[in-house]
Amino acid sequence: MRVARAEFIKSAFERSHWPHDKRPEIAFLGRSNVGKSSLINSLLGRKGLARTSNTPGRTQSINFFLINESITFADLPGYGYAKVPKTMRQEWGKMAEQYLSEREELALGIQLVDSRHEPTKLDKQLHEWLRFNGKPSIIVATKADKLSSNQLRKNISAIENDLSGTPVIAYSSVTGNGRDLLWRAINSAVAEFPK
Ligand code: GTP
Ligand code: MG
Repeated sequence: MRVARAEFIKSAFERSHWPHDKRPEIAFLGRSNVGKSSLINSLLGRKGLARTSNTPGRTQSINFFLINESITFADLPGYGYAKVPKTMRQEWGKMAEQYLSEREELALGIQLVDSRHEPTKLDKQLHEWLRFNGKPSIIVATKADKLSSNQLRKNISAIENDLSGTPVIAYSSVTGNGRDLLWRAINSAVAEFPK
């Protein structure tokens, strides 16, 4: 996919701030620090467009980006960061559930898990929620560059097993490994999205 244009649209702290342009939207979901913003930058070939940080749990807004004037990317806040106050963690659940259940533009949810670890309890909960509610979604295992190819292969099949047999795409935002495969999944979800 050639990304001719990629621009930040806005940060939304509540539903009334969501953009309303009826374009198919791709949502990026996953625990804090798993690599959502890095993945977006890597897919778009733009270094600092989605802000990355070493301070997990900072982003509390949904950040929207417009790609080639035809697709929207939504970078959701990360979940599961222990040092975030409990009330804020509960807010995450409410915000994400509202977004996922009410967002009509949602064409695909990309759920990120860390390729080095077993999916967490919250990863499994989110995955079950997406399946139960019939939301089109795929799983991406991030930071694949941190493992040997042997270890990566093992971990990917363990993650697939853990998440009810759903296929997993391994990705590295450092090397760009997985980029073509993921763009293919995005493009086919966009093509299937009702006009
Ligand atoms: P929140 O917005 O806090 O939820 O985090 P996030 O999921 O957006 O993670 P972010 O992209 O900010 O990345 C977190 C850290 O992981 C950063 O230090 C990144 O440089 C690093 N990182 C992300 N993806 C990769 C990857 O594929 N490989 C390696 N080696 N590091 C990565
Ligand atoms: Mg982020």
